[in-house]
Amino acid sequence: MDLRLKDRAVVVTGGASGIGAACADAFRKEGARVAIVDRAPGSDRHADITDEDQVRAALDGIAADLGGIDVVVCCAGISGPVGTLAPDVSVADWDAVMAVNVKGAFLTVKHAVPHLRGAADAAVVLLASDSSMLASEGMAPYCASKGALLMLGKALATDLTPHGIRVNCVCPSVVDTPMSRTDMGRADGFSGVGYPVQTSSEVARLVLFLASPASRPVNGTHLLSDFAMSAKSAFPMD
Ligand SMILES: NC(=O)c1ccc[n+]([C@@H]2O[C@H](COP(=O)([O-])OP(=O)(O)OC[C@H]3O[C@@H](n4cnc5c(N)ncnc54)[C@H](O)[C@@H]3O)[C@@H](O)[C@H]2O)c1
Repeated sequence: MDLRLKDRAVVVTGGASGIGAACADAFRKEGARVAIVDRAPGSDRHADITDEDQVRAALDGIAADLGGIDVVVCCAGISGPVGTLAPDVSVADWDAVMAVNVKGAFLTVKHAVPHLRGAADAAVVLLASDSSMLASEGMAPYCASKGALLMLGKALATDLTPHGIRVNCVCPSVVDTPMSRTDMGRADGFSGVGYPVQTSSEVARLVLFLASPASRPVNGTHLLSDFAMSAKSAFPMD
């Protein structure tokens, strides 16, 4: 299938690591022109996505460099405290997770819109999670933030469709990345674990599909990639 991404101007936040880096590679392989926005050193545009001035400057700079912006992929995210039950979560941790995962995506799209408006087949993809729909113990801020991000995606699609901009979410279960290895104490990876784990490249393929004109009718929704882990009812069969 021709994804028609050649020469597209693509912004990937969080593209210095994990899923974002895999997305940046995959877009480049399709012939797209990619700019990475990340707070990590070595990014095309160094910015903390929780800071509105930095986000605006990064996106305006990329639009000037690339002659516009066609696609935005919001991958930048943090997990916050993992294994801390909700009553023990500090306000500082709560605020930090919400700031990156929700406000950061909002600011990125907000300041991309003036550039996306002029693009044909403009698309935004948000990296939500199966945690947008299912809670894991000890991850209240992350789950709340990803639930909010899923709804932000629908709200953005509602507001931006009249401007020719589609917005969708990808919702993966565990992906082998630096984030998940740290959170789950798997420094050497996930081989032999008793649950399914996907690769960053597998997630990137889903992102590219939703970013491509090939998915034109798909808008304001999410693609859940969780190996059917959430498909089974709790209804007892025996
Ligand atoms: N790894 C998983 O199992 C998994 C599963 C579902 C969803 N996700 C989501 O996918 C996205 C990418 O996760 P990952 O596993 O690749 O993580 P990662 O830690 O490997 O990469 C995250 C990137 O975001 C950047 N970042 C973080 N805060 C930032 C900020 N304030 N400003 C700019 N950049 C910032 C980091 O520098 C890093 O490069 C996240 O939104 C995450 O919640 C991950």
